Amino acid sequence: MRQLIAGNWKMNGISAALADIETISEIAATSAPDADILICPPATLIWRAAQTAAGRIGIGGQDCHPEISGAFTGDISAEMLRDAGATAVIVGHSERRQLHGESNSFVSAKASAAWRAGLLAIICVGETEAERASGDHLGVCKDQLSGSVPDGADSTNTVVAYEPVWAIGTGKTPTMDDIGSMHAHIRRCLTARFGSESNAIRILYGGSVKPTNAREILAVPEVGGALVGGASLKAEEFHRIFSAVPPRG
Ligand code: 13P
Repeated sequence: MRQLIAGNWKMNGISAALADIETISEIAATSAPDADILICPPATLIWRAAQTAAGRIGIGGQDCHPEISGAFTGDISAEMLRDAGATAVIVGHSERRQLHGESNSFVSAKASAAWRAGLLAIICVGETEAERASGDHLGVCKDQLSGSVPDGADSTNTVVAYEPVWAIGTGKTPTMDDIGSMHAHIRRCLTARFGSESNAIRILYGGSVKPTNAREILAVPEVGGALVGGASLKAEEFHRIFSAVPPRG
């Protein structure tokens, strides 16, 4: 399975940041990493980012609305992202779940909208610090998966991202054993529901991935890549992360 290294720029980046898209695209084109590279800039940059990347890396959205169009002020449909040049979209990021009150069923509708528009849906799950402390993290992620991943998920339309909320932007990461246990658990949940054909669905790890820990994290069994926040904002750091993808055996 080819890994996916995706950068989530969140609400960061204006026109000047297109220079980083150019640098990352150029490095990806010349170094031919053994991974798919995707950057999800703010929506205002998607069109120009896609023009700049010119197919050398993928460009994605950070969220979409379930409907194609309509009276939803401030929202963006999956079709609009596609029209702007995106090939993927993140749905159900914990910042959307927590700050915008998004439910599993709403996230599932967004993932279906992504498929309708021909986009890869990157569906995020992950427990809070309190849920981890209570020992309920496996159950929490299982429930998020069953509620947020629509029927019909396969490796061509879906990527799951495990992002423990307490590891996002904190510099804290789970141990490699904990990452391995959670990814194995997510794999079991997907296989139980979708059968062994779903074994090629990539499960990304996200939360304080840095050049200094990427090699170790990306080598954990069932880790199919990374969803990188802060360290994706600078081309040099992001490059060091996608250079750490282990060779496929
Ligand atoms: P950080 O890499 O900044 O911890 O963010 C992770 C994340 O939320 C990516 O979606």
